[in-house]
Amino acid sequence: MDFKQSIANALSAAAGLGADELNTWLETPPSPEMGDYAFPCFKLAKTLRKAPPVIAQEIAGALALPAGVVRAEAAGGYVNFYLDKSAQAKAVLEKVFIEGARYGGSDLGQGRNVCIDYSSVNIAKPFHIGHLPTTVIGSALYRIYNHLGFTSVGINHLGDWGTQFGKMIVAYKLWGEKETIEQGGVDELVKIYVKFHQEAETDSSLDDQARAWFKRIEDGDEEALSLFEWFKSLTLKEVEQVYDILGIRFDSYAGESFYNDKMGRVVDELREKNLLKLDQGAQIVDLSEYKMPPCIILRSDGATLYATRDIAAALYRKDTYDFAKCLYVVAYQQDLHFRQWFKVVELMGYDWAKDLIHVSFGMVSGTEGAFSTRKGNMVKLKDVLSAACEKTYDIICEKSPDLEDKETIAKQVGVGALVWNSLYNGRIKDVVFDWDAVLNFDGETGPYAQYTHARACSVLRKANYAPAEVDYSVLTDAESAAVISALGAFPDAVVEAMEKNEPYLVTRSIIGICAAFNKFYYEQRIMADDAAVRQARLALTDATRRVVAIGLGLIGVAAPERM
Ligand code: ARG
Repeated sequence: MDFKQSIANALSAAAGLGADELNTWLETPPSPEMGDYAFPCFKLAKTLRKAPPVIAQEIAGALALPAGVVRAEAAGGYVNFYLDKSAQAKAVLEKVFIEGARYGGSDLGQGRNVCIDYSSVNIAKPFHIGHLPTTVIGSALYRIYNHLGFTSVGINHLGDWGTQFGKMIVAYKLWGEKETIEQGGVDELVKIYVKFHQEAETDSSLDDQARAWFKRIEDGDEEALSLFEWFKSLTLKEVEQVYDILGIRFDSYAGESFYNDKMGRVVDELREKNLLKLDQGAQIVDLSEYKMPPCIILRSDGATLYATRDIAAALYRKDTYDFAKCLYVVAYQQDLHFRQWFKVVELMGYDWAKDLIHVSFGMVSGTEGAFSTRKGNMVKLKDVLSAACEKTYDIICEKSPDLEDKETIAKQVGVGALVWNSLYNGRIKDVVFDWDAVLNFDGETGPYAQYTHARACSVLRKANYAPAEVDYSVLTDAESAAVISALGAFPDAVVEAMEKNEPYLVTRSIIGICAAFNKFYYEQRIMADDAAVRQARLALTDATRRVVAIGLGLIGVAAPERM
């Protein structure tokens, strides 16, 4: 039974607006005393020419209460609806059990593809802590969209093009050793690259050589290409280790170089559509009308740019995937870049330019002592992940010395803590990284949610729980009702997270469930003497562990059964 929909239907009769529209107006009140759903009357004030509180009174008076709703009450500009607790318990728990792993999901996005450009690492550059948000926000969105019936297409738009690869080749030829680099990977590549820059300050012939090598890459020279591919495979080998730890996958690794042969189309089309302008030798799209600097398409030497490649990639993705949305999970520093080239695509006359979305996020910075500063600010993601696992291992040894397979669980909890930390706040907020806060088992952290899940599993194990008929009328106490409301709110949170591209809304929903469950756990005896009460409370515990596990799965955090 969908209470929200039946309230919307009842409102539709009373307010004379479509039920589907009104459904989207219904809110969840901030506290249980204010009911289970609240209908804001503010938007009706203009058409009805009455003050919102008056409208609320009238609606509350005129409304025929739908089944399962016991009360509708005006409060200020809202009408608050109170559900029959036992009917709500039945509806929510049965839905959780029937839908199983699909709970919170739907076929909302059926038949629609969503491209998600995330992580998008740069070849021969370290994969550092700053890449954590794009990687985990992107993969959380990937799962959330899939859960809602969309088909997610994960794209790692590799930074694998540019003159720096000419420099890398020169550096390698002068100072590189194959073996050392095979073993040391990206670290070694970075070393010789830094050396190139130091030496080039006094020896300008190095830059000329670099340009020549880059030209050879562009011309498809065999030696140049094979070195370039080697740098690429070394980098990918390293990042893939991190992706494995995080349980992340991509459907495409088509990066900047993939579009080498697709630049002509962009330039030709822009020229045909009269959008190109010559400016100091460069070809640009003038965006002054939109209060933005010009978008440079071709440099004066004819080279294409980052933006040109992004435009080519968008055209290619539209052709290949016919996306309903194309998301770019990239730091807010690139805000102007995306606004510029999105505008260019719009000026090209593509109405799907509106489906290009920059999902931006803030920076990660460390507190004193959070990251080893030995290597400057470039703290490698791999090192942070290992440190998290080691620290968690120590905590587990101290807290649960008898736990089996501590190492696996330490990995799940350590990695989960880091992932959670990036998905705890709205994206745009800068993340301050602090080990104590991240690994705190009591705060609103990943370990806390995982622990709550493990606690529920342990209750069920000890009780030898087997599902059976439930008398829902015994789940009407305040603590049980709060857990049920929190479980019932989860599906809306998933939809809202998708609509706003904000995975933290799922994280917050998980916290809501965990907090309510822990309160219930402390205040109500689950193993009550009365068999019916016991069975119902165990069913509630079972529903909790299922939904928490689904939520954790969506944000990419493991849900161990023991901790
Ligand atoms: N490699 C780029 C960087 O590290 C991010 C690429 C984002 N994706 C895109 N299509 N521009 O800054």
